[in-house]
Amino acid sequence: MSLSKRLGEYVRACFTGLWIQSHEHDDALAELAELCRQEDWRLAVWDIDRGLQVTGAPAEPAGGQDPLSAIRALNALATSDGTAILVLTNFHRFLNSAEIVQALVRQITTGKQNRTFVVVLAPVVQIPTELERLFVVLEHDLPDQAQLEQIARGIATETGELPEGTQLQPVIEAAAGLTRYEAEGAFSLSLVRHGQIQPDTIWELKSQTLKKSGLLSLHRGGERFDALGGLEALKSFCLRALRRDGHERPQAKPRGVLLLGVPGTGKSAFAKALGAETGRPTLLLDVGSLMGSLVGQTEQQTRQALRIADAMSPAILFCDEIEKALSGAASSGQTDSGVTARMFGSLLTWLSDHTSDVFFVGTCNDISKLPPEFSRAERFDAVFFLDLPSAQQRWAIWKLYIDHFALDVPLVEAAQNVVPVARTAHESVDRLRKWASGRCLSAEQPGIFRAEPAAEPKVGRKVSRNPSQN
Ligand SMILES: Nc1ncnc2c1ncn2[C@@H]1O[C@H](COP(=O)(O)OP(=O)(O)OP(=O)(O)O)[C@@H](O)[C@H]1O
Ligand SMILES: [Mg+2]
Repeated sequence: MSLSKRLGEYVRACFTGLWIQSHEHDDALAELAELCRQEDWRLAVWDIDRGLQVTGAPAEPAGGQDPLSAIRALNALATSDGTAILVLTNFHRFLNSAEIVQALVRQITTGKQNRTFVVVLAPVVQIPTELERLFVVLEHDLPDQAQLEQIARGIATETGELPEGTQLQPVIEAAAGLTRYEAEGAFSLSLVRHGQIQPDTIWELKSQTLKKSGLLSLHRGGERFDALGGLEALKSFCLRALRRDGHERPQAKPRGVLLLGVPGTGKSAFAKALGAETGRPTLLLDVGSLMGSLVGQTEQQTRQALRIADAMSPAILFCDEIEKALSGAASSGQTDSGVTARMFGSLLTWLSDHTSDVFFVGTCNDISKLPPEFSRAERFDAVFFLDLPSAQQRWAIWKLYIDHFALDVPLVEAAQNVVPVARTAHESVDRLRKWASGRCLSAEQPGIFRAEPAAEPKVGRKVSRNPSQN
């Protein structure tokens, strides 16, 4: 539902405090102005730079910058049978003043009598406790594919500047997740560079944008499944899930997999290759970076990261070594006032409820550190166990690396330079196997994983990249 439609409903229902979270104030204001014009509502906009501007009235003389008088001016805009809206731009900056908070409490409460509305427009949601119950929060969504196409058409006006037919979709998908302003910039840069809008330039700008957000990064490596020996059951499961038709039914949408396994068995490598293999961007979610120092910041950053991921669909969302970040969730109440638990809660809700075409891949070395709700059966499409490679898989991997590095080293000689994980960490490997036995799917063969009695390997199981240097 568009912002103006949602806003219109709330105003008609007389919610007199509205908080719009938006990174695109000009666009949000344009939607709001159009709504007010259609409904014949009075509109005033205040910001610290320009002061109070009432639509249809001459600009205020200099000095209208005082935030307190802006709130007080709203009552003067009220009419006996009409509606008046005051937009306060970036007003989160002023909410640490007791006078301002009190003026807002009074205004929002009395607004119900004379139909005057306060709308705060800010990129974040930081509402002081006194005002929490008085505001309704609306998120200004990032543009959808149809809107992005409209923006592209507005910029590429000459024939041939915008690819048509099947070539157009990759351009629009590349821009998914950008704001209107960023998409305009990316399209224009591509036109300057190539005389045509091309996905490459857009991807380049999008990775920069994601880096700036500090929450997600984009992996666009070209690794494919054929660079990974074995893991056949896992590969075919994910390909089937992602290529299946019938995704239009939300309940049939694939949600994701959890990869549990011994270090070095290819969990991260698999997650990165899945994107290239299915033609989707792989977004790396660093759970540690979601932790903010201010109250409420962590939850807000988690929501924002997941929103960006949703807007970038179809995509793979890859969260590596998830237990490291979430291990504190159970004791979170005592250690960090519940911040980790709430972040974990937001992630769980998203995993169960998201309707976007985003496939989650989480990896984990130590399931005992993960809160039990996380690995619960129906949370993911499947939980896979990646064991140490079997003899057959070892040969497949060995052959891949011999070809790749043009090596001429006998396996026995190379094994002398490698201490296998099976030996350095056999206790934890055994523990993990026991946990996975009967609970997880095998990454190698279709069916449930069954632990076999551990046997000491005869040759090195972990392949060193360049054995001759060890
Ligand atoms: N099946 C495989 N075929 C080819 N190479 C592999 C395979 N499994 C792992 N590797 C290689 O071994 C290295 C380690 O793999 P990766 O980082 O994916 O392991 P991991 O399971 O994520 O380990 P950790 O749990 O320590 O994060 C990478 O260079 C990867 O390419
Ligand atoms: Mg890894």
